[in-house]
Parts: sequence; structure tokens; C-alpha cells
Amino acid sequence: MDSFEFNKIIGGLLGTVFVVFTIGIVSDTIFASPVPEKPGYAIEVAEEEHGGGGAAGGETAETPIGTLLASADATAGAAVFKKCAACHTVEKGGAHKVGPNLWDIVNRPVASHEGFAYSAAMKEFAQGGSVAWDYEHLSNFILSPKGLVKGTAMGFAGLKKPDERANVIAYLRTLSDSPAPLPEAGAAPAAENASAPAEGAAPAAEGAAPAEGAQPAPAQ
Ligand code: HEC
Repeated sequence: MDSFEFNKIIGGLLGTVFVVFTIGIVSDTIFASPVPEKPGYAIEVAEEEHGGGGAAGGETAETPIGTLLASADATAGAAVFKKCAACHTVEKGGAHKVGPNLWDIVNRPVASHEGFAYSAAMKEFAQGGSVAWDYEHLSNFILSPKGLVKGTAMGFAGLKKPDERANVIAYLRTLSDSPAPLPEAGAAPAAENASAPAEGAAPAAEGAAPAEGAQPAPAQ
């Protein structure tokens, strides 16, 4: 009875262990979950694909911003700016909201407004303050914030319509004690007009006059 009984008990135990292991192995195979390369959840954010004209070759504006600004409308731009106003104030000395205050932004060095915690990406883009928000940069940034400054904290899809972009930049330009001069539209159009704007531009030290002088000239 003794050794035989004993063998039965051991046999039973081993059998149980065998069954438990088998179930474990089989269920592991069935419910296999691959270990992710990076821990955490992958969050997929679909980039907005507006079918707009700028599809080819990445996102840069087709028409130079200088050309667009020549016929831009700052008043219309103020209305467009409502899309930005959720995150930005524009008054002189205005508070920071989600984004920095944008008073006098044209030609202001990138990521330079005191008291605002810019993202690492934006600080890097600023290259120690040597890069400024000229018209070109502003236009490309507003077209596609993440396209120009990869990793920026500005959560805004971008203004794809060239006229909206130009209008809002024209509006931002007015928000300054001495608005930056408008860029020269296009290359050098209209040789016959050349003398007129030159005279308008030369004597004006104040900054207001050249803008007005420039307007009619490039109208082709
Ligand atoms: C959802 C909030 C949000 C909206 C909407 C938004 N911005 Fe921003 N903006 C930000 C944030 C946040 C930053 C700072 C980005 C960083 O540090 O990477 C920023 C930065 C900027 C800068 C750079 C400022 C600097 O001092 O270097 C400009 C210019 C700008 N925004 C313009 C605009 C314009 C124009 C619009 C509307 C067309 C707009 N933003 C809409 C949040 C926003």
C-alpha cells in the first residue's frame, strides 16, 4: 500500500502541474500581445490635409508674401485674427494667454517675449535670437505652424488661404508704434513707375509714408 499509494499521489501532483503548464503555454500563444518598442500609448493625430493648391513639395506658400501683402486688407485681417485671439492678445503690454502677446510681432526676434515659456522647439528655431519674425517666416508659420517649427506648442492647424494669411499679417503689422515697412512686392516691376515710388519713399523717415507710396506702384 505504502509505495504504491505514494506513487499515486506524486503521479497526481505531476499530472496537475503538467496540465496547468500546458494551459499556460497554450493561452500565452492564443492571447499573445507583442511588447511595444516604446512603452506608452501611441497617439495618432491625423494631419489636416486641405486639398489646397500648396500640395506639391511640402508646405510653402505659392505666391510670395510680399506680393500678397501689397493688396492685403488689415481690417479684414482683424476679423481673421479672431481665430488667434483665443490664445493671443495683441494690445501693447497685453497679457500672455496660451500663446505670447503679439504686439509688435513683425520683425520681433523669435521666442523673445519676456515672461512667456516658449517650447524647446521654438527656442531652438530662434537660434539664440538671431531669427526674427519677418514677413516670410510669419507667413510660413501661420500657414503651417508645425510645418515651419516642428514641435511647436502652438496648437493651430494653420491658415491655408493665402488672402487670409496676408490679411492677418497686414493686421499684425499695424500693431506697432512704428509699423515695419511693407516688403517690396515682387522683383522690380514697372520701370515707368520707378521714379514715383522712389520719391515717395526717400524723404519719409517716419515710416508711414513709404507704405502709402508703395501701394499704387506695384499694381501693374
Ligand atoms: C491654440 C492656441 C493658439 C492659437 C489658436 C494660435 N496660437 Fe500662436 N502661439 C500659440 C503658442 C502656445 C505659441 C508659443 C509656441 C511655442 O513656444 O512653441 C504661439 C506662438 C506664436 C507666434 C510666435 C511668437 C513669438 O514670440 O515668437 C506667432 C507669431 C503666433 N503664435 C501667431 C499666431 C497667429 C497669427 C494665430 C492665428 C492665425 C495664432 N498664433 C493662433 C498658441 C496659439
